[in-house]
Amino acid sequence: MLHNIDINKMNQLMEENKDAKQIISQLLENHHTTVSTIAHEIRNPLTLVSSSLQVMEIQHPEVKQYSHWKQTMEDVEFMCSLLNELSTFNNGSTLHHSVFSIEKLLKNIAVSFAISLDSEDSSIEFSSSIPSRLGSYTGDKVKLEEVVLNLLRNAKDAVDENGTITLSADRKKDMLIILCKDNGCGIPADKIDTIFTPFVTSKEDGTGLGLSLSKRIIEAHNGTISVDSIPTKGTTFTIKLPI
Ligand SMILES: Nc1ncnc2c1ncn2[C@@H]1O[C@H](COP(=O)(O)OP(=O)(O)OP(=O)(O)O)[C@@H](O)[C@H]1O
Ligand SMILES: [Mg+2]
Repeated sequence: MLHNIDINKMNQLMEENKDAKQIISQLLENHHTTVSTIAHEIRNPLTLVSSSLQVMEIQHPEVKQYSHWKQTMEDVEFMCSLLNELSTFNNGSTLHHSVFSIEKLLKNIAVSFAISLDSEDSSIEFSSSIPSRLGSYTGDKVKLEEVVLNLLRNAKDAVDENGTITLSADRKKDMLIILCKDNGCGIPADKIDTIFTPFVTSKEDGTGLGLSLSKRIIEAHNGTISVDSIPTKGTTFTIKLPI
């Protein structure tokens, strides 16, 4: 995994040596191709799963009454869209706009997240406060869902089994505000300035891309994302999106 120091070294190498610049650029391009290929390969069987679920629903309409059925269908559809984006090289700044209810989007995310905690028998306490006065929003629904999920997953990684996580939203004049708050480990003062930098991670299995991608997505919507954190007490991420 590349750490901040490695990235600085890599940039330095690229500046100093033309050959190194060419090789590193080629490697980065290969990396993009690999990611794109893997996404494409996963998308194929997932599309099959999605089709099978749709056939099951047609043949056995009663499944619609099962708890979590609707959410599962929406989650599968979301995964297909995500992989689609990856496989077509789309980056965080390329948006596909649509008009949608922000309340519905956030409530769906909250339900999915709560289900994922339930399925892991987690004792983390999750709550959400999403009022109905948020109105409609024009933006990239899939990418915004990705951002909020990134924040919730980070919050989950940061808390212990007695942790609490809250997702809340509000609308103030022409600004939509989304907060993701946890009472986890917090971020040390000497690390907080770099968390939005690509490949910066404190996790063994982290890519360190979640927050940098989230920032790009929010900025592409002309919004801002900021963080407040107190080590050992918790962290709050604030997203502000102009409506
Ligand atoms: N809620 C949080 N509480 C404490 N630290 C956090 C929180 N959110 C992010 N961080 C810190 O910021 C780092 C970067 O987060 P980011 O989402 O970009 O990558 P990651 O979570 O490490 O990896 P990935 O998102 O690929 O799984 C994390 O490794 C962690 O150290
Ligand atoms: Mg993350």
